[in-house]
Amino acid sequence: MSSKVIVTIFGASGDLAKRKLYPSLFRLYKSGNLSKHFAVIGTARRPWSKEYFESVVVESIADLADSPEQAQEFASHFYYQSHDVQDTEHYIELRKLQNRLNEEYQAEHNKLFFLSMAPQFFGTIAKHLKSENIVDGKGFERLIVEKPFGTDLESASQLNDDLLATFDEEQIFRIDHYLGKEMIQSIFAIRFANLLFENIWNREYIDNVQITFAEKLGVEERGGYYDESGALRDMVQNHTLQLLSLLAMDKPNSFTKDEIRAEKIKVFERLTQPSQEDLKKYFIRGQYKSGKVNGKKYISYRSEPNVNPESMTETFVSGAFFVDSDRFRDVPFFFRTGKRLTEKGTHVNIVFKQMDSIFGEKLAPNVLTIYIQPTEGFSLSVNGKEVGELFSLSPISLDYRTEATASGASPEPYEKLIFDVLNNDSTNFSHWEEVKASWKLIDQIEELWRNNQAPLHEYAVGTMGPSASAELLAQFGAEWQWNPQN
Ligand code: BG6
Repeated sequence: MSSKVIVTIFGASGDLAKRKLYPSLFRLYKSGNLSKHFAVIGTARRPWSKEYFESVVVESIADLADSPEQAQEFASHFYYQSHDVQDTEHYIELRKLQNRLNEEYQAEHNKLFFLSMAPQFFGTIAKHLKSENIVDGKGFERLIVEKPFGTDLESASQLNDDLLATFDEEQIFRIDHYLGKEMIQSIFAIRFANLLFENIWNREYIDNVQITFAEKLGVEERGGYYDESGALRDMVQNHTLQLLSLLAMDKPNSFTKDEIRAEKIKVFERLTQPSQEDLKKYFIRGQYKSGKVNGKKYISYRSEPNVNPESMTETFVSGAFFVDSDRFRDVPFFFRTGKRLTEKGTHVNIVFKQMDSIFGEKLAPNVLTIYIQPTEGFSLSVNGKEVGELFSLSPISLDYRTEATASGASPEPYEKLIFDVLNNDSTNFSHWEEVKASWKLIDQIEELWRNNQAPLHEYAVGTMGPSASAELLAQFGAEWQWNPQN
């Protein structure tokens, strides 16, 4: 890994930079993955001084630093440039600063650019980086792009073309922060390091897969963005389909980024494009109404700040995807995600096929649950005999769960992902072919909804969404395995 690098952040005064990027860079610094030979150029419109920028950085890592001196030493690597992304002159200044820091820190011309601002500016930034010779072919040059990567296939393709004018696919790292989460990465271990699962991870043994991304919070202060986006674009096009691809992919020939990516891309390309009829049957949307949970009142989505009072935007979506592969043909991958649900939690349930009964006793299916957050771990439910003279069966859960995230034992997703970029490892990033295929599918659902061809169900806050979501599974003779209650 090269820890010699000049990192340039576009959007350095933003919330993400303060909450995630500076702390993650600091963790890498503390663990020795970034040492003397790195500097960070922060850019944003605001006229900040270096001193002020340093104080912002120090504040963002206050809880992580061993001493004020350590925090200050780290922050001394940070430089600020007030920057209008449309102004060519500013890029000329940026190049001078980049060159000066490259000399000073002996960074061997290695450059990492982080786009953490509104995507409509990505194209112009990429263009200027090349025309003003900041990207000059010396050292490594990598680009990290934050979501959302477009709002549909057309805008995503345009954005991609804009970036490709300056960077190659191999240099572009599209962030999906879920891919940096410890348990998502553990899916490989669970699937491929256990013959027990490896041998039965297919349509012969798996009845259905259930993916839940539940959030307890509402849209908070992001109403403006969210009302344009909705749950389908915000959570399904990216996180849900990425997770699905890890669950559905075939075993790569080797555990290299190219082989893993190739297998993931195959899943995206084999996602079944539903007919108009199936689109109506298999995807349902909902929006939260006002209500009370445990005595506390919550406003409806339509009353949230910066949300259109007549908004038709979905805050909940549930559906069934299919992957047309030999491994998983006809196995439904159910998903649901929403705001203001019962509790925060990302879970995957793999529901295995089961015999109906044994000696007249009805059998529950074996279910492997992967807990991604807030607790991490997995559990396997098996049928056991109840103690006593009679032959009665009941499901027993074999549990391995930790509070790793809560105790800080797992690395922060951004720390892990920036580490990967420094290592030139794109395994945990979204490839363009994946993004393209996912938009193709999502666009079809969006179109149906835009034309109001499917109902928008209301749901009560503090529940797991509208009842239509349970009815969706019932069509397949299945039911949600995770049913938290208030
Ligand atoms: C983001 C979405 O990508 O993921 C947010 O834009 C959502 O709406 C967030 O709240 C959830 O991420 P996490 O890591 O808090 O589960």
